Amino acid sequence: MAAASNVRRRALVTGGASGIGAAIVRRLSADGLDVVCADLQAEAAQRVAESCGATAVVLDVCDFARVQAEVARLGPFDVLVNCAGVDQHAFFTKTGPADWRRLLAVNLEAVLNTTHAVLPAMQAQGYGRIVNVASEAGRLGSRGGSVYAAAKGGVMAFTRSIARENGRKGITANVVAPGPIDTPLLRQAVHAGGERLLGAMTDATLTGRLGTGEEVAAAVAFLASDGAAYVTGEVLGVSGGMGCGA
Ligand SMILES: NC(=O)c1ccc[n+]([C@@H]2O[C@H](COP(=O)([O-])OP(=O)(O)OC[C@H]3O[C@@H](n4cnc5c(N)ncnc54)[C@H](O)[C@@H]3O)[C@@H](O)[C@H]2O)c1
Repeated sequence: MAAASNVRRRALVTGGASGIGAAIVRRLSADGLDVVCADLQAEAAQRVAESCGATAVVLDVCDFARVQAEVARLGPFDVLVNCAGVDQHAFFTKTGPADWRRLLAVNLEAVLNTTHAVLPAMQAQGYGRIVNVASEAGRLGSRGGSVYAAAKGGVMAFTRSIARENGRKGITANVVAPGPIDTPLLRQAVHAGGERLLGAMTDATLTGRLGTGEEVAAAVAFLASDGAAYVTGEVLGVSGGMGCGA
C-alpha cells in the first residue's frame, strides 16, 4: 500500500532488526515510507536499515525516558509499528516474578512507552497509524506461554482503547496477530519445547504451514497506509486461520 503520493510518511518500527520487524522495515521502505528501525541489536538493525534505505537506532523500548528522547529527536512520526517482543516457553508454575516482569515489560509496557511518545504529535497533526504486533496467543491463550499471552491480550485491549480515544483525530490503532511465523523467536521457542511443539503449531493452522515475516508485513503495510483510514480497533490474524472463530 503506497503512502499518499505527495506526502512521505515517517514510520517508527520497533524490533526492526530481526524476523517480522525486519520484514516490516523493508516493506514500509519499499512502499515509500521514511522508516526508523529501532532495536536493541545495533549491528543487525544497521544491516536491515542499510538494505532498504531506512535509519537504524539503538533503543531499549522498555526505557521510557530513552523512548521519549529518541522520538523527540527523530520524530514526529505518522506511523508507529510496535513489533519488539520476547517469548519464553515454560509452564506458568516453572516461572517467577523476574520472568513475568521481563515478558510484560517488553511485550506490553514498551507498547505504552512508544505510544505515549508518538501520540501528541499525531494528535496535533490530525493523522496517525498505530499497528501493534501481538499474537494469536493473546486471543487463544498459550500452553507454555501464559504470561506472554497475557501481555499480548493486554496489547489488544490497550489498542482498542487508543482507537476509541483517537478515532476522531485521524488516528487509527489496530493489532496484527501472527500465528507461527518462521523467525529466530519461533526457532528459540521450538528449541525449548522440542520438535513436537513445531508440529503442534503447524497443525493448529488451517494452512498446515508456518507463515513468513513478509506475510505479516503485508498486513501491517495495509493497516499503516492512508487507505486504511476506516479500519480501527481491529485485530487482524495473520495465522493461517489459527484464530478463526476467536
Ligand atoms: N514468530 C512468531 O511465530 C510470532 C508469533 C506471534 C507473535 N509474534 C510477535 O511478533 C513480534 C516479532 O517477533 P519475531 O518472531 O520477529 O522475533 P525476533 O526475535 O526475530 O525479533 C524480535 C526483535 O525484538 C527486539 N527486541 C527485544 N527486546 C527489545 C527491547 N527491549 N527493545 C528493543 N528491541 C527489542 C529483538 O532484538 C529482536 O530484533 C514479537 O512481538 C512477537 O511476540 C511472533
